[in-house]
Amino acid sequence: MSEANFLPNPVHVALLDRSYDIQFYWNVKLIAEAISAYAPENIVIISNSVVWNLCGESLEVALNQTGVKTSVWLMGDGEKYKSVETASAAWDFLVEKRFSRKTCIVALGGGVVGDLAGFVAATYLRGVSFIQVPTTVVAMVDSSVGGKTGVDHPLGKNLIGAFYQPRLVAMDLSLLRTLDRHNLQGGFAEVIKYGVIYDAQFFAWLETNLETAMALEPEAIAHVVRRSCEIKAEVVSQDEQESGLRAILNFGHTFGHAIEAMGEYKETQFHGQAVAIGMACAADMAVALGRKRPH
Ligand SMILES: NC(=O)c1ccc[n+]([C@@H]2O[C@H](COP(=O)([O-])OP(=O)(O)OC[C@H]3O[C@@H](n4cnc5c(N)ncnc54)[C@H](O)[C@@H]3O)[C@@H](O)[C@H]2O)c1
Repeated sequence: MSEANFLPNPVHVALLDRSYDIQFYWNVKLIAEAISAYAPENIVIISNSVVWNLCGESLEVALNQTGVKTSVWLMGDGEKYKSVETASAAWDFLVEKRFSRKTCIVALGGGVVGDLAGFVAATYLRGVSFIQVPTTVVAMVDSSVGGKTGVDHPLGKNLIGAFYQPRLVAMDLSLLRTLDRHNLQGGFAEVIKYGVIYDAQFFAWLETNLETAMALEPEAIAHVVRRSCEIKAEVVSQDEQESGLRAILNFGHTFGHAIEAMGEYKETQFHGQAVAIGMACAADMAVALGRKRPH
């Protein structure tokens, strides 16, 4: 059966006047149409050269065909570029080119590009419109949804940033095919996290179908990405700024961030892999402390 048969319905993130949809496609051209419906006059695409070479030009051409004007700003690839220095270089580009408040920033890439571009959108001219086009599993199921944007500080991850919701999240599931195995595994750690923290039935489904989903079989990966987005949307809609419930999404992240910091954010250590190890550490610690699930 063709991929088009497994086109999930959009997921709505309900946040009053900051509400938005998460849309799923198998084709980058349809993303361009979805973006153009938000009618930005000018788009600045922020990406990196790896992602740009995979799909950037197709997205830009498709956007131009809808009549939208585009500019492109490419950042370095890797967590070490999720920094205030990179944000500053992006601000320089936007200021020098005199982009107005009607500009929309489109983040095309994984979680690093999404977090950085979202922070730039939140701060340029006190906030311009922002759209997420995630291209990794981590970004599709987690970082593009919920409005956490920011950069790392030398003393810790994600310490500088803003809650700033996108106007739209639109993704092309076929882009996952170019991810390497480590990157995919890291992304699936975040997926398994949703099963553990929120949905026992989803966890049981993953126990049976993990290999099929990781092989990117269309029906399975579409289910995984949509259900993960749905869970994230439900949690964020109840607690946008992490005053309570949203903290469950950080399961495994305290240990995970420490592992990333010890590894000095090298490219060999993906965020999701650190989270996977972190979840195992947190679970072991809970057992050692005799913690039981409340009834
Ligand atoms: N804002 C949030 O709520 C949130 C949630 C989870 C993670 N994060 C952040 O996300 C970041 C991790 O994201 P990530 O795992 O996507 O890492 P990443 O953005 O560094 O991407 C991993 C690698 O994959 C490459 N890549 C991207 N798309 C590709 C594709 N389709 N095919 C082949 N290669 C591709 C990237 O260029 C990069 O080299 C961390 O900084 C983490 O803190 C944020």
